[in-house]
Amino acid sequence: MNFPNLTVVNHPLIKHKLTIMRNKDTGPKEFRELLNEITLLLTYEATRNLPTLNIEVETPIQKTIGEMVEDKKITIVPILRAGLGMMDGILNLVPNASIGFLGIFRDPETLKPVEYYLKFPPFTEDHYVFIVDPMLATGFSIKYAIEKVKEHGVNNIIVMSLLAAPEGVKNLLEVYPDVKIYTASLDEKLNDHAYIIPGLGDAGDRLFRTK
Ligand code: URA
Repeated sequence: MNFPNLTVVNHPLIKHKLTIMRNKDTGPKEFRELLNEITLLLTYEATRNLPTLNIEVETPIQKTIGEMVEDKKITIVPILRAGLGMMDGILNLVPNASIGFLGIFRDPETLKPVEYYLKFPPFTEDHYVFIVDPMLATGFSIKYAIEKVKEHGVNNIIVMSLLAAPEGVKNLLEVYPDVKIYTASLDEKLNDHAYIIPGLGDAGDRLFRTK
């Protein structure tokens, strides 16, 4: 399936690490480490179009012009709680980014997002906001997060997920066609409980050993 604005970062190392994560016998320590490693690799691709500023720099030989990313304009929004598992992976590459937190849970009956916490840094229209959640399943939570970020007039919104379901991607891009999505895998489909198939189970439970 082809979606505009969806990039599946196909790389042998990502596929290898993801296969270990899918294995039901992989424990939380390894699961967390691998999620951070894959997130770092996704971040490399997802930040490819960030603008740079020309900065004068003096080498031991002479002055020259280098380029630097304006990291003050980058905000990461992990969707609690599983999104926390991707935060360090991004911060490894963009250590001075701001962090905004959004706590959402899925109502088990309606599957709709319910907000329980929101704390955003002050961001302006020219910010680049990276919304992270390992599982883009129905897309409801991520859509909610996009809505909240757009209330600040931000147009540069990038979603990063470990896995994505076609239903969620379609749902999200129908409403927000300008948003860019980066994922390690576009899986097959959702099951009746809105879990990704084949997926890797409940990402939050596997990260934090809550089951
Ligand atoms: N959330 C998860 O943690 N796993 C899924 O498969 C879907 C949503």
